Amino acid sequence: MPVHQYDAVIVGAGGAGLFAALELGRQRDLRVAVLSKLYPTRSHTGAAQGGIGAALGNEEEDHWEWHMFDTVKGGDYLVDQDAAEILAREAIETIYDLEHYGLPFDRTPDGRIAQRRFGGHTHHFGQGPVRRACHAADRTGHMILQTLYQQCLRNDVHFFNEFQVVDLLLEDGVVAGVVAWELLTGELHVFHSRAVMFATGGWGKIFKVTSNAHTLTGDGAAICWRRGIPLEDMEFYQFHPTGIYRLGILMSEAARGEGAILRNRNGERFMERYSPTLLDLAPRDIIARAMITEIREGRGIDGKDYLHLDFTHLPRQVLDEKLPEITSFARTYLGVDPAREPVPVQPTAHYAMGGIPTDVWGRVIRDEQNTPVPGLYAAGECACVSVHGANRLGTNSLVDILVFGRRAGRDMARYLKEAERVPVSHNPDSDAREQLERLLSSAGGEKVGAIRDELATCMMEWCGIFRNGPDLQRMLDKIAELRDRYARITLDDRGRRFNQDLLEAWELGCLLDVAEATVRSALNRTESRGAHMREDYPKRDDAQWLKHTLLYRDGRFAYKPVTITRFLPQERKY
Ligand code: FUM
Repeated sequence: MPVHQYDAVIVGAGGAGLFAALELGRQRDLRVAVLSKLYPTRSHTGAAQGGIGAALGNEEEDHWEWHMFDTVKGGDYLVDQDAAEILAREAIETIYDLEHYGLPFDRTPDGRIAQRRFGGHTHHFGQGPVRRACHAADRTGHMILQTLYQQCLRNDVHFFNEFQVVDLLLEDGVVAGVVAWELLTGELHVFHSRAVMFATGGWGKIFKVTSNAHTLTGDGAAICWRRGIPLEDMEFYQFHPTGIYRLGILMSEAARGEGAILRNRNGERFMERYSPTLLDLAPRDIIARAMITEIREGRGIDGKDYLHLDFTHLPRQVLDEKLPEITSFARTYLGVDPAREPVPVQPTAHYAMGGIPTDVWGRVIRDEQNTPVPGLYAAGECACVSVHGANRLGTNSLVDILVFGRRAGRDMARYLKEAERVPVSHNPDSDAREQLERLLSSAGGEKVGAIRDELATCMMEWCGIFRNGPDLQRMLDKIAELRDRYARITLDDRGRRFNQDLLEAWELGCLLDVAEATVRSALNRTESRGAHMREDYPKRDDAQWLKHTLLYRDGRFAYKPVTITRFLPQERKY
């Protein structure tokens, strides 16, 4: 079995992983490896379309304090405000650093970085929309990936592509490395490392209609959970309002930032009734609920479960220059030209607000006392810092991955100045090997695809935008049934090389884990806040629930207070 020696191993090659790796690579004396289940520039950061928020004030007056306020209010006051302040302040320098690394941002006529409107981003603490999203057409995430990947190569970061990490090595609670499976050969490798960072992205694939790619299966969160780390605020899962009907592919919020309008079957701009100030640029939880309400009340298009995103009043030049990617998606996948006819859309599962708990330096914590796990880091969507609280604002995912990915890289460099290499146990790959062998040898006749589909369909139905106790309990029972069937799967491919069948089976184990954590946490939180809407508990309940949830794999809950520094919780009106 190959054993590799590194100072730091980063799992995941999206924006968070690459920025951390770049920070470490720049130290010169550290050996840094990035392990990615994909070729790096295919990571899901590339699917982030519309922009990255920063109060540059290039198009109109703006201040980081307004950005911080919007983030806190958008997150329905569950946001840790020390983290939100860091996010809003450091967003600005981060954008300029990316510019200096060569990221081709769109420009204003006088050559500054162009900015546009996005949901929930306001001036003067909620008075009206502000232009805060910096963008490279509607391919902003893609450009970030390309830029950071090039910088990592330049700084001698080593990449192991198509390596699936399956286990985290902890020795007496201290990080010792990871075990990864090389998809090409089927071989297991041990990466012996003094520090490990998870930046593995989200788990949208627990839902049927999702903007997430096929690979977004919650691997990092599941691996940590299995190793005794709790998962934080898992009940908060975001549905983006505008996914292409049935396919879930994102039609960026930038569309509405540039002036597109949501309409119901009567052609009505229905957001006027739900958010008189911000209209189609209200936060996502509010718009997604409004859309489902319209559909439930029979105002979906032709009485069906979708609505229209109307671009037809926008100049063709705006579509071609500012929104080329999504308008081509509409043409390719639906045969609809957005310049002539509205695009059918429905809410699509998009983003996990919860995840592996960390402090503001990306250090993973193991309990409500914020005790760090020495050498273990997480950042990006798989982590919960918690800067999004109960509902993330559009553009803040890119800010989060970059600001906190880089901070994690910086703290790892500090940690590595002192940290000793921890010896690994005698058979470090034994758990990983057993996981894969069990899947390969199981012969009960159940099919992975069928279980995966049923999980995603039921999650959509019983743990989606609107939730209630009986449905959530039904979903927990369903997960138990699916776990039982998972123990009896049969794979069609029992080979070693590029065994996608085995990979999907292993990923299904992660999906079942993160789905269970989501449902258990949703059942536990008997209030409605942000994206977590309990029909049986429709009010926010600050007296009981202004706190973070930590869920351990044995079913135990612990709670952490929300850090409040500047903005006391208020009623959330837009
Ligand atoms: O709508 C979008 O372009 C998505 C951005 C985000 O999730 O931040």
